[in-house]
Amino acid sequence: MDIIIKENYEQMGKYAAKIIASYVKSKPNCVLGLATGGTPISTYRELVRMHREEGLDFSQVKTFNLDEYLGIGIDLNKPYDMDQSYARFMHEELLNHINIKKENVYIPDGLTKDPEKYCQWYEEEIKKAGGIDLQLLGLGCDGHWGFNEPGSSLASRTRVQVLTKQTLDDNYEAFYKKANIERSQMPHFAITMGIGTILEAKNILMIVNGAKKADVVAKCLEGPVTSQITASAIQLHSGNITVVLDEEAASKLQ
Ligand code: F6R
Repeated sequence: MDIIIKENYEQMGKYAAKIIASYVKSKPNCVLGLATGGTPISTYRELVRMHREEGLDFSQVKTFNLDEYLGIGIDLNKPYDMDQSYARFMHEELLNHINIKKENVYIPDGLTKDPEKYCQWYEEEIKKAGGIDLQLLGLGCDGHWGFNEPGSSLASRTRVQVLTKQTLDDNYEAFYKKANIERSQMPHFAITMGIGTILEAKNILMIVNGAKKADVVAKCLEGPVTSQITASAIQLHSGNITVVLDEEAASKLQ
């Protein structure tokens, strides 16, 4: 496992984008696993810059997002309002600004009428695509990957998950409050790739920033592997793992 410590959030994002770009250049039809949240914004900004200024080509790339709130989503063919779907986030932060093909973008459908069947379909699509070459991950304050909250099986697959109070609080502060959405209106369920699904990615790139994640970073990378910190499963992965941290997030590592 390579652990890279960069000075700040912007530098973390630039470094992570460089890693993603090198996969895209070496395998133009690669399959990327993508994350949402505050953490990857600087990474996506840099990828957009590389596309615009350096011609980084996404025309053959396929992407699978980790998760989506259940009960919300967007029809991209219609005007959309202030919903906080991850589909909307991905289009605004990255997908609308690069030359990726619509049919190559997979984001769990939060509006599905049959979540169980949908989750199985999502797993099958990942397999049909040949598996994920590089999975980008953030880290939740409670140690989650995707929405695999504490107690999720480390062998779990794509499924519906109930969100914990901590995740609801974190995501309310980061996104919903700014959009003037009442906390009680937040979705409490999500579709998420499982930890077992994530561990099948050939390569893993985890990015984490900020002092508030320093404790959980140390537990995840240096503590025991436990379903109480589902991202500690990173220690079980046998492919290439790169963890890019800013100095604050790295401050409690031994
Ligand atoms: C989002 C996701 C989550 C986030 C995590 C950190 O797709 O999978 O696990 O990576 O909650 O969120 P931020 O980056 O907002 O701190």
